[in-house]
Amino acid sequence: MSVTVGSPGVRSIYGSAISAKALGSFSRPRVIMAVQSNVISVAPILTKLKEDCATPLPVLRHLAAAMASVMRAGLAVDGGSDLPMIPSYVDALPTGNEKGLFYALDLGGTNFRVLRVQLGGKEERVIATEFEQVSIPPELMFGTSEELFDFIASVLAKFAEKEGGEFNLPDCQTREIGFTFSFPVKQTSVDSGILIKWTKGFAVSGTAGKDVVACLNEAMQRQGLNMRVSALVNDTVGTLAGARYWDDDVMVAVILGTGTNACYVERKDAIPKLQSHNSTSGGMIINTEWGAFSNGLPLTEFDREMDADSINPGEQIFEKTISGMYLGEIVRRVLLKMARASELFGDSISEKLLTPFMLRTPDICAMQQDTSEDLEVVGTILLDVVGVSSNASARQIVVEVCDTIAKRGGRLAGAGIVGILEKMEEDSEGLIFGKRTVVAMDGGLYEHYPQYRTYLQEAVQELLGPQTSTNIVIEHTKDGSGIGAALLAAANSKYGHHF
Ligand code: BGC
Repeated sequence: MSVTVGSPGVRSIYGSAISAKALGSFSRPRVIMAVQSNVISVAPILTKLKEDCATPLPVLRHLAAAMASVMRAGLAVDGGSDLPMIPSYVDALPTGNEKGLFYALDLGGTNFRVLRVQLGGKEERVIATEFEQVSIPPELMFGTSEELFDFIASVLAKFAEKEGGEFNLPDCQTREIGFTFSFPVKQTSVDSGILIKWTKGFAVSGTAGKDVVACLNEAMQRQGLNMRVSALVNDTVGTLAGARYWDDDVMVAVILGTGTNACYVERKDAIPKLQSHNSTSGGMIINTEWGAFSNGLPLTEFDREMDADSINPGEQIFEKTISGMYLGEIVRRVLLKMARASELFGDSISEKLLTPFMLRTPDICAMQQDTSEDLEVVGTILLDVVGVSSNASARQIVVEVCDTIAKRGGRLAGAGIVGILEKMEEDSEGLIFGKRTVVAMDGGLYEHYPQYRTYLQEAVQELLGPQTSTNIVIEHTKDGSGIGAALLAAANSKYGHHF
């Protein structure tokens, strides 16, 4: 397997890692006796955590096979398995011939992006691109559908007003948008789809069960904005399309960021539930929504408690085990149990350590990068973020907890990828493992968490073996989904393909 990194972009929930030097020194451990008693009392908790999170090869194999089998069941009939396996109605991938001005709008997490791109066909490719990124005000994540879509339409309207320079639209044409909407949507066509449920902490009222394109159109009308959504895509689908524009071997796309998901190119005859649809190419991108996977996952008491306390209990279990929104929270729950059972952080428990989601995945990632002798960065983060003092041995234990959770997440994600590849290979022998096949990867977790990334790659290699691994390329395609959505808007333009 080879791993490559693409061009710089913006999809990230991670800041840069903090260096020990930058944070200054932290006091040295004081009493050796106290150190030992900490270790003794938390040892059983740590041992049990490691056992419960273990992902030896047989577990990974079982998981990859389970992923392949629930994929099949989900393709057979709607509701056939945990995995929605949503047909995207994208049956033509970008060819490079796309020309003209297209917009993309990307809603998938706490940030929202608008982008415009001037496409110049095979010769000139991407002539110019411009984007703006705006944070979604937190109250809108819990507000009404109108409030959220009005906000999006107002940002889009302001952005469209600034169009100029290298961007130009032929007279009398309506601006067309590729709308990347990164939540589970039951597509009804390439430019419409009904929200199944919110994920990643969103709880907006009045959208579930509605066509999200209609919601956006209504908001654009309220803004007096004349734009047409010509493609509605999941971020995985946008990433696959964006990566495929440059590389014909891209067959799968995976997002590992705040949330997680994967999509892939499926043969039309392998989608029994879609037999009535006429595909022009004989294939279609399937959005697996693999975050909903749950078979045979190695779970702990901390996962179960976090799930029970979440706004969507019993749902998105794979996502809750491997994605950026949750890893820090799982670690916080482990540390809290350890702090209660011992004097790991002294004799009192801080308010911050008791607060859900106080410790974030970027924090646990930064702690794992600490190479200083006394783990000074770890000490500073524990003090600043969760309000606890620590000595060197306590910090060492904290790093082990972070590593255990990151390792499980990375290895399970790797097994998920192999499950998808194996499903594709079973249906078309040699066409996946027998030649170069690219998995386009995006998301801050994969990009910024080196240990997680390494664990994922190791799991893929272990599962595929050295021979097959050489054909599988995991390519980091940063921010491909924006351009990908614009390319799909071009492919579905009402003005034709502009070839
Ligand atoms: C959503 C997916 C999305 C993924 C990555 C998940 O929570 O359900 O639709 O692709 O996050 O953004």
